Amino acid sequence: MDLGIKGKVALVAASSKGIGKAIAFALADEGVNLSIFSRSKDEIERTASEIRTHFTVDALASAADVTSKEQVDQVIETTVQTFGGIDILINNAGGPPFGFFDDFESPDWQNALELNLLSGIYLAKKVVPLMKKRNWGRIVNITSIAVKQPIDGLILSNTSRAGLIGFSKTLSNELAKHNILVNNICPGRIYTDRIKTLAEKRAAQSGIEYEKAIEEMEKDIPLRRIGTPEELAALACFLASEKASYMTGTTIQVDGGLLRGLF
Ligand SMILES: NC(=O)c1ccc[n+]([C@@H]2O[C@H](COP(=O)([O-])OP(=O)(O)OC[C@H]3O[C@@H](n4cnc5c(N)ncnc54)[C@H](OP(=O)(O)O)[C@@H]3O)[C@@H](O)[C@H]2O)c1
Repeated sequence: MDLGIKGKVALVAASSKGIGKAIAFALADEGVNLSIFSRSKDEIERTASEIRTHFTVDALASAADVTSKEQVDQVIETTVQTFGGIDILINNAGGPPFGFFDDFESPDWQNALELNLLSGIYLAKKVVPLMKKRNWGRIVNITSIAVKQPIDGLILSNTSRAGLIGFSKTLSNELAKHNILVNNICPGRIYTDRIKTLAEKRAAQSGIEYEKAIEEMEKDIPLRRIGTPEELAALACFLASEKASYMTGTTIQVDGGLLRGLF
């Protein structure tokens, strides 16, 4: 299926590896030109080089932290200079530390809000005027299944991501008249470095092998396996496309059935 976005420009945040990288690849496969960024210059340049090797699109790489307004401003300025605008924003970031209420103090809460809530709001603030000029836009926020079912031991994530859902639902209503669509994707368990770290922690805490910890994580997933970044990227790419033209304000999990609720 041709998703109808060949030649468009996507800004993909936090995309040197994992879910962000898989989304960048999926968009490149659709002929979308890319501006990608993450904190590590070497890693993001390596990813851009892989994209240029495998696909016939342009890939601009920048080293920037999503929580730094100055660095994000610089990325957007360079993207606009290079491509003339931005049509698609994939709002992604790293995840906050694992832990419980007693583990964290005020700076930890501030950092989590900056990483998983305020960064997304700032990116939207900068990109929406560019989308309005073209009367076309797609914003896809990568959040977590935690927004539908809070996860034990991830209190920072559970709290900061909930705010992004309220923000993006409101934004979707405000921007619909400009043909700018805003949707959220909730990863369940997707096999990236983040899930590997979680499995290593669980293995160390319980005195079991890493493989056993992964098996434990797969047990309560109805599909009985951890998902791949590509399986999540397929939905992100669709929501970023022309084909998703009647979808806005949604929050969809990609979780192999892990969520036990109705919505
Ligand atoms: N994987 C899962 O099962 C799962 C489940 C639920 C939610 N999520 C969430 O989905 C998002 C992506 O997860 P992932 O599994 O793909 O993680 P990952 O494999 O650890 O990759 C994270 C990516 O984000 C970049 N990054 C991290 N902090 C950044 C920052 N402050 N500014 C710019 N880039 C930053 C990293 O590159 P640099 O280090 O170079 O910056 C890397 O490219 C995270 O918010 C995660 O919590 C993931």
